[in-house]
Amino acid sequence: MIFYFTGTGNSQAAAQSVAGAQERLVPIVECLRKDSYDFEITDGDALGFVFPVYFGGLPLSVEQFIGRLRLTGRPGYVYGLLTYGGFAGGAGSMLQAALARAGLGLDAVYGVKMPDNYLVLYDAPTEAEEQKILKNAGEALARIRTRIVLRDRVMRGTALPVRMLAAALYPGYINGRDTAPFHTNDTCIGCAACANRCPSRAIEMRDGRPAWVKDKCAFCMSCVRCGAIEYGELFTGKARYKHPMLRKKGHDAHGAAGGHETHGAASGHDHDAAGDHDHGDGDCCPPEGGHAHGAASAGHDHGSGAASAGHDHGSGAKCH
Ligand SMILES: Cc1cc2nc3c(=O)[nH]c(=O)nc-3n(C[C@H](O)[C@H](O)[C@H](O)COP(=O)(O)O)c2cc1C
Ligand code: SF4
Ligand code: SF4
Repeated sequence: MIFYFTGTGNSQAAAQSVAGAQERLVPIVECLRKDSYDFEITDGDALGFVFPVYFGGLPLSVEQFIGRLRLTGRPGYVYGLLTYGGFAGGAGSMLQAALARAGLGLDAVYGVKMPDNYLVLYDAPTEAEEQKILKNAGEALARIRTRIVLRDRVMRGTALPVRMLAAALYPGYINGRDTAPFHTNDTCIGCAACANRCPSRAIEMRDGRPAWVKDKCAFCMSCVRCGAIEYGELFTGKARYKHPMLRKKGHDAHGAAGGHETHGAASGHDHDAAGDHDHGDGDCCPPEGGHAHGAASAGHDHGSGAASAGHDHGSGAKCH
């Protein structure tokens, strides 16, 4: 079984890449939205947690989910798979600590560099950049899958200097996440897709437009996939990244209320992060809302792609 959390699709795609043929994939977003935390695992089975790195650490939504998880059965191998733009930081350590509090061990932490979706600091990658990153990620995920099958034991993000750097960054996430700057521009068509997939349930539709009803949110960038959502003026005119899996024609999550996927099942459709529905381009958004490559260049370099310190986000369904 794999629990995955995603804002813009990278971690969902990574989870699908490493999943076994009939393995159950559980979207954490839906569990949070539906307060569904009871799961059963066959003794000895592998259990994976796949999620993005935020400020060198664990997304609050993942920590919340693990804290509420009620698991029946004892997994034989527990691993984390981090997706990140350049600095995986201490997310492995934080996962280990969160799992320990829930009475679970951690046998391995893997990481894969994917396009960076932190629009506050970075532009969406150009098409060429995105293709290159995703090609490398695909190769890395194939290797990781083999290591998971072999139940390799490997940890990353647990070395002291990395943890120290990550610990310095992470408060920027905890103390940030303000929703006040969110607002819509006049391309909003009132489809409610953003509200339907917010893991923090921070968006409600009021008078046909999204309204942010909580002061803080998980800051997952899921709503921002829609080009009709601005953050102050920080995102204005910027292309919005989402994984190509969410852009493909016919991507549709109708009926996703059940909230689980079986990898390789003949369902013929993928579920979006939180079971909303898409029109064609993979998101229910106005035309401007898609991923527009071009003018905006990525303009940033995350270095080696390993746990290098170059990346600074500083101040800045019942599912079973
Ligand atoms: C709030 C926030 C903080 C982020 N912090 C980091 C970070 O510290 N290091 C990093 O390499 N990438 C960081 N990123 C980029 C994401 O980890 C990366 O793009 C990830 O693959 C997104 O996964 P998703 O598409 O499943 O949401 C951050 C993204 C967000 C939204
Ligand atoms: S997803 Fe975009 S178009 Fe739909 S309601 Fe939200 S902001 Fe408006
Ligand atoms: S308001 Fe937007 S960015 Fe914040 S948690 Fe909800 S979907 Fe994610």
